[in-house]
Amino acid sequence: MAEPGNLADKAAAQASIAAALARARAALHTRSDSPQLDAELLLAYTLRRPRSYLGAHPEQRLDVATLDRFERLMGRRAHGEPLAYLTGEREFWSLALAVTPDVLIPRPETELAVERCLALRTDAHADVVDLGTGCGAIALALATERPVWHLVATDRSSAALDVAQGNARRLGINNVEFLRGDWFKPLNGRRFEIIVSNPPYVAAADPALTALRFEPVTALTPGNTGMEALRIIALGAREHLVPGGWLVLEHGTTQASDLARALVAAGFTRVRCYADLAGHDRVTEAQWT
Ligand SMILES: C[S@@+](CC[C@H](N)C(=O)[O-])C[C@H]1O[C@@H](n2cnc3c(N)ncnc32)[C@H](O)[C@@H]1O
Repeated sequence: MAEPGNLADKAAAQASIAAALARARAALHTRSDSPQLDAELLLAYTLRRPRSYLGAHPEQRLDVATLDRFERLMGRRAHGEPLAYLTGEREFWSLALAVTPDVLIPRPETELAVERCLALRTDAHADVVDLGTGCGAIALALATERPVWHLVATDRSSAALDVAQGNARRLGINNVEFLRGDWFKPLNGRRFEIIVSNPPYVAAADPALTALRFEPVTALTPGNTGMEALRIIALGAREHLVPGGWLVLEHGTTQASDLARALVAAGFTRVRCYADLAGHDRVTEAQWT
């Protein structure tokens, strides 16, 4: 990959959309799993056009300023910065959510937690809390699907809550209440039909954290074992669920049996684990009776 700015030299200034994409794709070839898609999304973002515009206008010449902006974004992508932070947006549950480096980028596998909440309670009114909401992904998806539910979305990070509240405003979602604080503390003893959370669950020494270095470490890891937040939530949920209420937790692929043991020891019943689309244990639910 050329260093930022180099693409906007005389030769490159002649570049068409097709040529700029070809250069960018080659530059990202060994640095991204999806070089073509990344290049297209970043060029479309630079041009403030839909991606389909690129295919429809491959011969269009790009001016120097546009090439320069595109080159800078490509340089950051080549150094590993996630696409969502470069474009400031990630789709989750068909919602276009704003993201900043203050929040975890919502992952497709987290949609499984949303699916389980929706399956556990179909249409009746419910009070539901999303602990550690980040950009608001789970709470906003549930709020959209179940407009009669009352959602509470919490986070310890005020910067994350700002992002989540901005997303709710932009999407016109009004049935979510946002509270800042450590896990159950901001709830003041309130009880819920469903508690859902995708807490930090990566062990502090996990080498996978290197690849995730652009995301907030406090969103990724709760401590040495990776189980710390899951255990706190499993224990605290007993004081915040109505009888018959459900706890729905996303977790790491190797944590299902430890978590199931913790939930049974805490007095939960009907403990069930679900696999994500890749076949990995990903979400565990349990009932408080
Ligand atoms: C893995 S991220 C999940 C974000 C979002 N729910 C999602 O699925 O994309 C975990 C979130 O928990 C928040 N968090 C971490 N420790 C917390 C704590 N002690 N109390 C409340 N929130 C916490 C982080 O700020 C982060 O937003």
